[in-house]
Amino acid sequence: MLLKGALTSISLAIAAITTVVAVPVSQTLKGRQEDNTNGDGQVTWDKHTIMVNGERLFLFSGEFHYFRLPSPDLWYDIAEKFKALEFNGISFYFNWGYHSPKKGVYDFDGVRNVQKAFDAAEAADLHVITRAGPYINAEVTMGGFPNWLINMYAMARRSSPENDANSREWLEQIDKFLVPNQISRGGNVILNQIDNEYAVNTDPKYMEMIKDQFKKDGMDVPTIFNDIGAPNGNWVSGPGSVDIYGWDSYPLGFDCANPTVWGTNRSIHWREANERLNPDQPLALYEFQGGAFDPWGGPGYDACRQLVNEQYAKVYYKNNYAQGATIQNLYMTYGGTSWGGLATPSVYSSYDYGAPISEPGLMTPKGYEVKLQGTFFHTVKPFLTTERFEPKSDNSDIILIDGLADVNTNTKFYIAQHWNTASEELDAFHVQMETSDGKFKVPHKGKLVLNGRDAKILVSDYDFESQHLVYSTSEIFTHQDMGSHDVMLVYAYEKEDGEIALKAKSKASKVKIETKDKTVTQSALKKDIVQINYKHPNGTSPIYIKNAGEKDLLLLVAGYSSATRWWAPIVDSKSGNRVLIHGPYLVRSAEIKDNSVSFKGDIDETTDIQVVVPDNIKSFKWNGKDIKLKPTGHGSWKGTLNFGRPQVEYTDLTKATWKFSQGSPESQPDFDDTEWITADHLQTNSVTVPDTWPILYADDYGYHTGNIWLRGTFNGTSEITGFNLTCYAGAASAWVIWLNGEYLGGYDVGNQDFTNLNGTLIDPEGTNVISILLWTTGHADDWDADDRYKQARGFTKSELLGVKNQTIWAIDWKIQGNLGGEDLVDPVRGPYNEGGLYGERNGWHLPGFPDDKWEDASIPETKNRTGVSWYRTTFEVNIPEGYDAPMSLKFDDDTKTRYRSLVFVNGWQLGRYANDLGPQTQYYLPNGILNTKGENTLAIAVVAVDEAAQVGKITLEPYTILESGIPDVKLVESPTYQDRTQH
Ligand code: GAL
Repeated sequence: MLLKGALTSISLAIAAITTVVAVPVSQTLKGRQEDNTNGDGQVTWDKHTIMVNGERLFLFSGEFHYFRLPSPDLWYDIAEKFKALEFNGISFYFNWGYHSPKKGVYDFDGVRNVQKAFDAAEAADLHVITRAGPYINAEVTMGGFPNWLINMYAMARRSSPENDANSREWLEQIDKFLVPNQISRGGNVILNQIDNEYAVNTDPKYMEMIKDQFKKDGMDVPTIFNDIGAPNGNWVSGPGSVDIYGWDSYPLGFDCANPTVWGTNRSIHWREANERLNPDQPLALYEFQGGAFDPWGGPGYDACRQLVNEQYAKVYYKNNYAQGATIQNLYMTYGGTSWGGLATPSVYSSYDYGAPISEPGLMTPKGYEVKLQGTFFHTVKPFLTTERFEPKSDNSDIILIDGLADVNTNTKFYIAQHWNTASEELDAFHVQMETSDGKFKVPHKGKLVLNGRDAKILVSDYDFESQHLVYSTSEIFTHQDMGSHDVMLVYAYEKEDGEIALKAKSKASKVKIETKDKTVTQSALKKDIVQINYKHPNGTSPIYIKNAGEKDLLLLVAGYSSATRWWAPIVDSKSGNRVLIHGPYLVRSAEIKDNSVSFKGDIDETTDIQVVVPDNIKSFKWNGKDIKLKPTGHGSWKGTLNFGRPQVEYTDLTKATWKFSQGSPESQPDFDDTEWITADHLQTNSVTVPDTWPILYADDYGYHTGNIWLRGTFNGTSEITGFNLTCYAGAASAWVIWLNGEYLGGYDVGNQDFTNLNGTLIDPEGTNVISILLWTTGHADDWDADDRYKQARGFTKSELLGVKNQTIWAIDWKIQGNLGGEDLVDPVRGPYNEGGLYGERNGWHLPGFPDDKWEDASIPETKNRTGVSWYRTTFEVNIPEGYDAPMSLKFDDDTKTRYRSLVFVNGWQLGRYANDLGPQTQYYLPNGILNTKGENTLAIAVVAVDEAAQVGKITLEPYTILESGIPDVKLVESPTYQDRTQH
């Protein structure tokens, strides 16, 4: 008793020491927050924003997963697109499992070279948020845990000697990249996340362990945490707490099947939560819904893009700003592809996500909307230091207006939204604006409206360039001093009224307006305030205003769709000076040199353009070529970018010569499986409880991904009437079964009886062989830290039927998965690229495999095929220099029999197709994996779930053709069949 008591007090003392240690640590961090507001290489913060090198900024970040785009040069392309859409940050998850096939083995080469992701971000001038877990969720298998962790005894996301050692092993490895890329070392990493949404079943010691390892390795940027779904206050203080707390939110959820149905669940209490929980920190949304993921059999990403559309971006993102958010990371901004076995069972290969940038890297209406918002708050600096106030307005039962007042100037912002987020009504309202020039009921003339799912940020009392804006009912895109005059671009939906009031330098009556727009009127709001009214046009109207500010003002009034095609690339990162260009599908960047502006960008058709530049600019280049533009006055020039007729060539696969081989010899009773692993485990580390023995979980035998084969043998007796099997695997998994070489059926996961087989298929006197092919869809995640990622992939039960004294080990089993198991035979393509199909194990998917002895076949297939069928062909793609034509492979298929297939291009498994589930039929083939200047190898493995399957039509198709400033994309190393067999 005494001894026990003593031990308890020792452990209490230890607990007390831990707590004491934790307090000074957080105080030190607070000290850093207060002391170094101007230091170089520093990230500091106050309640308004973070500051990077002393400079205040709205961190407008987008989520990107390098592991979902296996072509590092394309990371530069995506980073440029982030920049073009006015993101100034990029958030990276780092996927432990993607780098570690086996305990102690780490790979950061080739497509896994994360340094290139930092370099791409740096090249595009993006700040980086690092999120290295160890747990990341992200709809990746095991939530990013490595395959081998499944066989570790200790619980993940808990502190224990074993799990700490495993987590630290990963952190030490990834920190070799994170640490030197921090801003304090001259890199671009500014914030570092600790684990992910760790909010259920938590253990503060686990959080402290992660923080400790990061610190030990040299991480010194502020730590952050993304609370689950709402400001729940996890890790905001006490042990495990982080520097800048924040949360995630997905207000529209993931029901893309009802793409017009919005809730009314806008959060109006976040500001209060931020003030209560972490009043000295900015309001941070480390994941805010940028799209939605879609499950197997779901409605598809077009529907998600419609659900989480540009109107959503207006209404919900502006609400975030109204709540005071100045850190917002859109999850996803570019989704990419869960290629190979990267996905959890909850998603299929495409992870397009309906994001602002689509899977093949294309612009979307939401991308353009986001650009309008980003440009605004990177231009209008008073937006960064506001306090809330309550403005007076009418129609306030219908229209909610949040007021934000800058604490340093008189500038105020009014964020107007429908109270009912889903409202599709047209509603007018007035705002009472109290400015340093007096009180105004705005608008004075005409109507200020919200037309359906819209939200607006209105500005009053704002000094910009040499002007003073009293107020505007149009939203501001940007403004710029162009030397001889100022420019400002404003917008609203077409046909809506607009009203702008400007302070006149002397009298309102002296202000002169030049415009061809007949809707424009001018009046004096006050003696020294000019009021300009107009209708937002289809297009953009220039209004030239003299004698308002010190300089003349070129006011560009744009209708919404015209506004979406305005770009304001920064030409000088020091001053933040911008030029304006209208028209192109994408403007990646602009540079001024010797009185000439060079633009880099993409067009999708012949495009009329307008540029607005300083007076000294006399010539222009587009993607390195001179272009002729005509001056139209006030630094504005017009011209046309001609879309050439590119010879984009690619093989017509319906006319290609295909080779065919049967690929499931394992189904035959005489197949030699002596080399296979005998499944003889009696214990498992899985959280799935077995009903019979031996353990038939693939992971227990070192096979973690893709297809798994099992072969069971039993000696027949006259008693045995059949058998019973229970398959345990993720959603959309399937299994196909043979007995003594005869097809018995194809099934979803679950229990299945096979009866009345005696005398027909079961040989009562001989050995009987069951062959099972299990098509898996990845492992579960560990979202609520309960180790469910350790759920089985295999069979929980295998028993004979009709036997009186049933034993719990009735059938002997062998198991087969990918060649080498955790000892990868193809480390270049990594741990998720291939599974245990006969063809995969024998390199049939690889370029250079000699298929000349295979029989000829045609696709669409004309023969019924049972088991696994492999098809191979080669195809050409030729995309000329200066063009981007992201390619896809498309299935078009009306067969009634169910099948699954794996698509390998140049040996890389780029997609999984389930003709019975869908919804995905189109597979993105990223440049770099795809040779866009020559030959490619295509291999397709078709697993017939029903007895006979016929793969349908397969074609190549570009998503679009762009004349493009895309950076050079080099071919990714793709080892051949010969490379594999020579080793
Ligand atoms: C969040 C999680 C992300 C991702 C997202 C849904 O809860 O942090 O990793 O899973 O949900 O796409």
